[in-house]
Amino acid sequence: MTPLSPPRLPASAPLQIAIDGPAGAGKSTVARQVARALGLTYIDTGAMYRALAWVVLARGVAPDDEAAVCRLAQTVAVHLETRGGDTQVYADGQDVTPFIRTPEISNLTSPLSAIPCVRARMVALQQAMAARQGVVMEGRDIGTVVLPDAPIKVFLTASLARRAERRLLELEERGTLRPLDELTREIAARDARDGGRDIAPMRPAPGAVILDSDTLTVGDVVARILQLAREVDPVSPASAARAPQERGV
Ligand code: DC
Repeated sequence: MTPLSPPRLPASAPLQIAIDGPAGAGKSTVARQVARALGLTYIDTGAMYRALAWVVLARGVAPDDEAAVCRLAQTVAVHLETRGGDTQVYADGQDVTPFIRTPEISNLTSPLSAIPCVRARMVALQQAMAARQGVVMEGRDIGTVVLPDAPIKVFLTASLARRAERRLLELEERGTLRPLDELTREIAARDARDGGRDIAPMRPAPGAVILDSDTLTVGDVVARILQLAREVDPVSPASAARAPQERGV
């Protein structure tokens, strides 16, 4: 193997694909499609941090009371279920999926996710999930911290303007109208916090393939990741089934 060859997957290891990048770059759409094409479990780690933020709000815990947030983070049961491409998020058995995508939760989740005990707990849950099954896991620190040995690491990025436009449309589809300049400011502030924090800052992992969704379509990005998967694992039965599915995206 030359130093430039892609890493190969040991025959028995479940495939791990790590996708990181800023809010609104299209990670979820891409990760879901890749997971479906490869028969892997899609894991949205942002939803886990969001579920914790929802519990913090619901229990009336002050977000800056780090000790109280840590107690909650250590005891809350956060659980993801993916059915037919959709992910349901449960916190202590309650389905919180409809409540965690609001701008209020987005803005609270970012500072909470910078608290070390919160990260320690979420990373442990995420690593346990990846140990049980093959995964496409998306977030901010998947390639750098959660799955540093994943054979496929992608950092998906896009310009702030495009990401804000995407968020505007997503919120509109859910019946929420927000001014574009306000959303742009909020996303820029989240970028700065998620990328500037001391612990597990958002950044491309060493060896990550950097893809820009300003210039690539979703289909292009998915096809590129499926190509990487074939290079890592060219002989598994799943890889033979990949090519026809890839054409559909
Ligand atoms: O991907 P998202 O927008 O749903 O993530 C919500 C917040 O959670 C985001 O501001 C940063 C944080 N997050 C994180 O710190 N680490 C992750 N692996 C995933 C999300």
